[in-house]
Amino acid sequence: MKVFQKLDNFLDYAWAQISRGKVDKKSPARHPTFVTSSADGFPNARTLVMRRSDRENNEIEFHTDTASSKMLALSQNPRAGIHIWLPKVQLQIQMDVVVEIKVGDITIPYWRDVPTNSRTAYGTIPSPGKVLESPLAYEHDPNQKRFAILVCDIQSIQLLLLGVKHIRAYYKKTTNWRGEWLSP
Ligand SMILES: Cc1cc2nc3c(=O)[nH]c(=O)nc-3n(C[C@H](O)[C@H](O)[C@H](O)COP(=O)(O)O)c2cc1C
Repeated sequence: MKVFQKLDNFLDYAWAQISRGKVDKKSPARHPTFVTSSADGFPNARTLVMRRSDRENNEIEFHTDTASSKMLALSQNPRAGIHIWLPKVQLQIQMDVVVEIKVGDITIPYWRDVPTNSRTAYGTIPSPGKVLESPLAYEHDPNQKRFAILVCDIQSIQLLLLGVKHIRAYYKKTTNWRGEWLSP
């Protein structure tokens, strides 16, 4: 079991795991749970593919359909949560983020990089979450105008490492990621 005596080393370790989400298709960090709050007060959690992580700028990025319900939720409240559980290394990562939504012409260069078969995820008719008459009563109409980039500005990171003795720590952007140990 890994034991971290230094907060910085623990955070470095977590970022190494987060970065694997982009390069290692088998890493669970590739599929974080992304949580928004809705007008009715219920949190909404769903799996998204992590498209980019950038420690230097404290950012994590996702792509989605502009017509999905998370977009309305984010327009009303750009604060979101990210959760990752890495069973092999017994590490839970939780983040508070503020989301900037990029849509329109600014996404064109990114859209060019989306593989053709993946573009079907952006432009489903009817829109995601709409009621259908039957399970396959929808069509794909890939559309760059329905492509949204969610740039998540990380505000805090909380880590929990399970072991004989659990280790928990909390880091905030406002204290320049200095971190503090928490009771697990
Ligand atoms: C493994 C997996 C990966 C997914 N990746 C994405 C993704 O990258 N972007 C996305 O918008 N939805 C993705 N989804 C679908 C979302 O979980 C969700 O169902 C969809 O975005 C509609 O969400 P909403 O109605 O809550 O906005 C993925 C689902 C799974 C199971």
